[in-house]
Amino acid sequence: MQILKEKEALKKKVRALKNDQKSIGFVPTMGALHEGHLSLIKQALSTCDKVVVSIFVNPTQFENQDDLQKYPRTLDEDVEQIKKISEEVIVFSPPASEMYGDTVSSEEFSFDGLEHQMEGRFRQGHFNGVGTIVKRLFEMVEPDKAFFGEKDYQQLQIIKKLVEKHGLDVEVIGCPIFRETSGLARSSRNERLSPKERQTAAFIYEILQQVKEEFGTKSAKEISTWVTEKFKSQPSLVLEYFEIANADDLVSIQEEDKSKKYRAFIAAYSGDIRLIDNIALN
Ligand code: PAF
Repeated sequence: MQILKEKEALKKKVRALKNDQKSIGFVPTMGALHEGHLSLIKQALSTCDKVVVSIFVNPTQFENQDDLQKYPRTLDEDVEQIKKISEEVIVFSPPASEMYGDTVSSEEFSFDGLEHQMEGRFRQGHFNGVGTIVKRLFEMVEPDKAFFGEKDYQQLQIIKKLVEKHGLDVEVIGCPIFRETSGLARSSRNERLSPKERQTAAFIYEILQQVKEEFGTKSAKEISTWVTEKFKSQPSLVLEYFEIANADDLVSIQEEDKSKKYRAFIAAYSGDIRLIDNIALN
């Protein structure tokens, strides 16, 4: 398996693949790979000739330095996991200087308002950091298809907008959320939960499932009040936000319009670990 650290080596490889008319699938990650990532890699392998997986903990998308420092870095284990699926994958694992040079800072993006919803309200500058790194990676990898999990649904919509606004020639594919047996959405942050916290965190998905059942029979306001009350009964999880929003522009629901698609979104803390999840409602 090839593990590249330098962008010039990656670009050279990409040029060779393009010359050979090979299609390139791309799975950007920050490492600490779990089954959710592996399912994206499998999907990429099943539809593209060659797959590039980037492993890079992107500093500019962390508004909280403590979170950045504690983010798990497990390159050797990640590589072993990928090898079990395929030895043919190219891993791109650059140091920050390859991606940012001497200045580790984000570019400013407008994502037509998507960036101001939900995560954008609580994570200042986060989507500028994501936009900066994903655009740079897309320019280096030149993928035909790029695969993103729906767990970060707002990120997925933002990447689609990035591609549209910057005329990037890549198909962005959203892949279903991968869940633990308990229902908890797979996330690299789950590794930092104690076994008990991990079990309790499954509550987030239980609530989302109940929201889905109630949607259409109760108003969004009633559902929202109910969710807030439910979280009060679970003090080890602190609700940051609950939203029902339009699945395309992520604007919070005003009045249900049956012709539109909606999703429910939750962000909650278990101790200092921030967890997010969402569900399609109709
Ligand atoms: O979803 C992630 O892991 C990151 O936000 C991404 C897309 C790899 C950019 O750093």
